[in-house]
Order: sequence, then structure tokens, then C-alpha cells
Amino acid sequence: MEFKIKKICCIGAGYVGGPTMAVIADKCKGIEVNVVDLNRERIAAWNSENLSELPIFEPGLKNIITRRRGENLHFSCDVEMNIALADMIFISVNTPIKKSGIGAGMASDLKWVESSTRQILEHAQGNTIVVEKSTLPVKTAKTIKSILESNKNSNKNFSVLSNPEFLAEGTAIDDLINPDRVLIGGEDRNAIDELIKIYENWVPKNKIITTNLWSSELSKLSANAFLAQRISSINTISAICETTGSNINDVSKAIGMDSRIGSEFLKAGPGFGGSCFKKDILNLVYLCQYYGLGEVANFWKSVVDINSWQKDRISKIIVKNLFGTIAGKKLGIFGFSFKANTNDTRESPAIEICKSLLDEGAILQIYDPKVSFDSIKKDLSTIGEDSIPKNDNYGHWIFSRKSLEAAKDTDAIIILTDWDEFKTYNWEEIYELMRIPAWIFDTRNVIESPKHIRSLGFNLWQLGIN
Ligand code: UDX
Ligand code: ADP
Repeated sequence: MEFKIKKICCIGAGYVGGPTMAVIADKCKGIEVNVVDLNRERIAAWNSENLSELPIFEPGLKNIITRRRGENLHFSCDVEMNIALADMIFISVNTPIKKSGIGAGMASDLKWVESSTRQILEHAQGNTIVVEKSTLPVKTAKTIKSILESNKNSNKNFSVLSNPEFLAEGTAIDDLINPDRVLIGGEDRNAIDELIKIYENWVPKNKIITTNLWSSELSKLSANAFLAQRISSINTISAICETTGSNINDVSKAIGMDSRIGSEFLKAGPGFGGSCFKKDILNLVYLCQYYGLGEVANFWKSVVDINSWQKDRISKIIVKNLFGTIAGKKLGIFGFSFKANTNDTRESPAIEICKSLLDEGAILQIYDPKVSFDSIKKDLSTIGEDSIPKNDNYGHWIFSRKSLEAAKDTDAIIILTDWDEFKTYNWEEIYELMRIPAWIFDTRNVIESPKHIRSLGFNLWQLGIN
């Protein structure tokens, strides 16, 4: 197929930009894809000879990087030059929740979107299609458009599209290769058709849908809000199960077999994490408040409130079972990422749960198969403004490279991420290393044979079961 689009530039080499561009480069070998980022360390890691040093861990990513890097996929810090060369530019920069100012704690901070849009305005040449890829509040495309429309230079023309990302971390490559749908929002039919031509190389035509800019943006926020709502719903049921003697796994299975409901996203756990759910729901809440839809805002806000409540209730259960005090006690934390198969810890429930346990004076021995010491340090920092130790007894944490190290001399192991390897551990060996009475708090229900675990001597608490 002859491409009109010859060069793509993606601004932002993160969890979205990196894998998305790798798959586009792999599926469209006639297009040159340049991924740019201001962060030199991150770009160096993408270019590293040693593929285990890639900045993000994502199953299947290494293979694509091996195939395409240096061919039609390049990572660099040359933002301006690559903007100038591109026919199509994806904006995949970070949009965290604002820490201060109007909408603090709720609205997204759009400063990186704005600065990259201004760079596009200054450096783009000729006709350029600008694709909004970051998860953004509804009507952000309008901001991007107004900045680009301030263009006085008749040699430049811009078309803005919204193409929200539905990939989930840990399955990003598979989600990109076999998406449920590709959504494109925009007004310029020619620009939409150019983006369709790219996806058509591997996505069936009936899965590519188009709409206007705002519907596209709102669809993304709503899809994430619906998914998160299912998790908060099942987590409330987990608490009822514990008090009534029902079993959350059985209840969840029975609910999910109703074809009108479906079985996905009904797994109870320590609460949802990740960079999108909380941010997107809070954006929705902010939008509702702005338009005077108070009841709607409260409805969605409760999904986030239940998520905080779930994390808090787990910390309290741990303290209560360890005889009401964990000060000075060693606890093994198994898993720190927000879900299995990723090294990402953004909004991981492990952060709040660990902070609560530290606040009670515990000594945490933290093990995760992929999360680095530096990430944990950043997340549990006692220097940051939000996390100044609240008391003199504040505990401390140790990074363990091996799970056995993390289990040594502990009173309890707390499983916070659903890593597969936890299922296959030799728990007998682990029990020998612990102080008795030894506990396992399994917040993800990864332990499949509770009887066996109990027969080893463990006291087992599983979410929504005891
Ligand atoms: C999510 C959306 O799924 C994706 O479409 C969007 O583009 C970005 O946000 P992600 O955050 O990567 O993706 O992970 P996801 O698989 O959705 O999990 C989010 C959180 O929910 C994790 O902490 C996970 O452990 C938790 N979860 C998920 C549950 O607790 N129970 C479930 O049944 C499913
Ligand atoms: P996401 O999960 O949305 O991909 P990340 O934080 O992983 O978010 O990645 C976003 C990337 O965008 C970061 O590596 C950041 O350095 C980069 N970035 C932000 N602003 C700019 C900019 N103006 N130019 C280039 N890169 C940028």
C-alpha cells in the first residue's frame, strides 16, 4: 500500500508512546517512526543494547524493539527536528492530576500537553495531522486546536484528531495488535482517513470507528469509569462476604456468568491502581461539577472513595490480626506494582497500604519481580510533602531482591500484586523463615490451595473469604 504518511513523530516515550509506536512501526514498515522525549535517561534506556534495560517492562515489547529499532523505529531527544520532519504527530505526554491551583487533586495538569503543542506550532512544516493520544479531559483537543489555530504562517496547516488509547499495561502489545476497537475522533475527513489507513494494516475495518472529537474523548473517560466502577462494586461485595461467610470468588463467578454482565473486571483486590482510572474518573467528576451536574459527580466520585476505603480497610485488618500492633514487627510485602506484568507503580494500592503500615511503625521488607528500588523510594519517600512521618514511631522499609529475603524473620507476608510466580512458591520453605504465628494476607487471592497453606502452619487471610 502506498502511504501518504511517510514520517510519524511521537512526543513522549512513556508507557503509551513507546509500545504504541513500536507496534505501528512493526505493522507499517514503510513509515518511519520517531519517538522523542525530553528525558535523556529514558531515551538512552530505549536505545540500550541490553534489552532488559528498556525503561518499561511489557511482555512482547523486547521482540518488536529487536526487529524495528534502527530500521524504521528511532528514539531520540531531537524533539524539534522530528516535529519538523513529521506528517503526523502523536502527543503521548504525561497528564498527571494537578497538585495545586484550580482543580487541584482532580483536574489533569495539562502543562506538558500545552508545551508540546506550542513546540508543534513553532516547528511543524506544511500539513501536519496532530493526534491526541494521552488520556485527557474532555475538550482538551479544543485547547490543542486553539493553540495551533493561532498559527499565522500560511505554510503550516494543522488537523487535530483524538485517538484514545485503550491498552492496558502488562498486555499492551497484545491489546495494540488485537484491539477491541480503534476510536478516532475529529472533523477533518481527510485526516481521519490517513489515520484509518495506518490502522487498517492490521486492524479489521469494522473495528475502526469514527466520531467527533468530544465524543471520542468522553468515550475514553467513560470506558475507564465503567471498568473502575466494576472493581469498586466487587470490592464492596468482598467486605460483605467476609462478614457473612460467603466466598467472593464464587460470588464473582456467579455474577460474571450472566452474559449481560460478563466475567471480566470482577476480581476483588486491594483496590485499583494505574495511571488512568483515578485520574479519568476525577476528570469526569470535575467536568460534571463544572456543568452543574452535582448528583452525577457524586455518583462517580463514590467509585474513587470506595477504592480508598478498600485500601484502608486492608491495612486495618492486618493490624487487627497481628494483635493490634505492628510497631517494630517485620512484614514481607510481596508485589509493589499496581498489577502483574508491569514495573509501573503509579497509583499502586501498595503505596497507600505500605504507608499506613509504616505509620504504625512496621518494618517492611519489600519484594517485587520488576519494580526497582528507585521507584519504591520515590513512592514511599518520607521527604515529599504528602508523606512526612506523622509520628516518632514511623517504621522503615528495606528493598529485597529475592522473595525469600523479604520473608525472613517476618510475622506476616502481604501479597499485594497478582504476580504469577507467587502461585508457584515453595511456601513450606518460606514458612521456615518466618516468626510464628506466621500470617499470609492474600489481598489478590493468588493462593489456590488454602488448605495446604494452613496445614503448613500459616494463618491465612484471603480477601472476601474469611
Ligand atoms: C486501564 C484500562 O484497562 C485501559 O483500557 C486504559 O487505556 C488505561 O487504564 P491499566 O491501568 O493499564 O489499564 O490496567 P487495568 O488492567 O485496567 O487494571 C487497573 C487496576 O485494576 C489494576 O490495579 C488491577 O489490579 C485492578 N483490577 C483489574 C482489579 O482489581 N480487578 C479486576 O478484575 C481487574
Ligand atoms: P504515559 O503513561 O501517558 O505514557 P509517561 O509518564 O510514561 O506517561 O510518559 C510521558 C513522557 O512524555 C515522559 O517520558 C515525559 O518525559 C515526556 N514528555 C512530557 N512533555 C514532553 C515534551 N514537551 N516533549 C517531549 N517529551 C515530553
